Amino acid sequence: AITNRFYTYERVEEIVGFIQKLVTIKPEIAIICGSGLGGLAELVTDKIVIPYADIPHFPRSTVVGHRSNLVFGNLNGLYVVCMQGRFHPYEGYTTATCAFPVRVMRMLGAHTLIVTCAAGGVNKDFSVGDIMLIKDHLNFPNLAGNNPLIGHNDERYYLFSGPRFPPVGHAYDRAYLLKMKEVAKKHNVDLREGVYCGLGGPCYETIAEINMLRILGGDAVGMSTVHEVTLAAHCGFRTLGLALITNKCLWDYNTTYEPVHEDVIRISELKANELQQLIFDFVGFIKDH
Ligand code: HPA
Repeated sequence: AITNRFYTYERVEEIVGFIQKLVTIKPEIAIICGSGLGGLAELVTDKIVIPYADIPHFPRSTVVGHRSNLVFGNLNGLYVVCMQGRFHPYEGYTTATCAFPVRVMRMLGAHTLIVTCAAGGVNKDFSVGDIMLIKDHLNFPNLAGNNPLIGHNDERYYLFSGPRFPPVGHAYDRAYLLKMKEVAKKHNVDLREGVYCGLGGPCYETIAEINMLRILGGDAVGMSTVHEVTLAAHCGFRTLGLALITNKCLWDYNTTYEPVHEDVIRISELKANELQQLIFDFVGFIKDH
């Protein structure tokens, strides 16, 4: 089943109520940590860690390189909630289930979402280790009729926007894109910018698929993020997305290289610190605005 029958408004409220008994602070920023990028949560001070396993109805992250905690605390002067470990459709969850924690974090009070992910480089100019600002996405599951918003549109989400036909043309906040470019300049980070292609996985792409993505204007490819950003747009989050290019993609039948998850994790861990510094500074900017 593709539709979101389980994570109803009442269930989201129940989960929010459970969390609010353990955490009294109201987070302003929600952060989703991608593969090997959970270390960002280590920069959080005055931490309260809630394992997903303790939260009623919460899924578990089954992927190597993903922990399974909600981490609350202070990051550079603002209260944040981090998802240390996310959910992917290839784990057997619907896109709606994968993305529903976005609503939980919104109902907890967060207004800004920062998503990070590991991705393959589709753009031939990109190098392994590059950080790409996500300016837009191609959401292949959506295009194939698998959108996390399929099914009943609970009007109570109107509190947070929540329309039946939400616009997503500005899902990645323009002002945040500009601000992150400034932050990167300050750090001497040569930030890339581009279109993230969200595919279902778990297979990496064929050579023909990568060439198709490039023709369609894609710059990076991954198996996450797009369903989360879709739900975030629906409930009125301002979103910033950052993709770490962890591997090259196949585009030539003569290459022998194939992407492997170990490389994804290795590069993520190698570059995590740089990405974390950018996010840390960006949060400081939000605090001042
Ligand atoms: N393809 C899809 N998802 C990914 C990749 C890739 O090459 N690298 C990291 N996540």
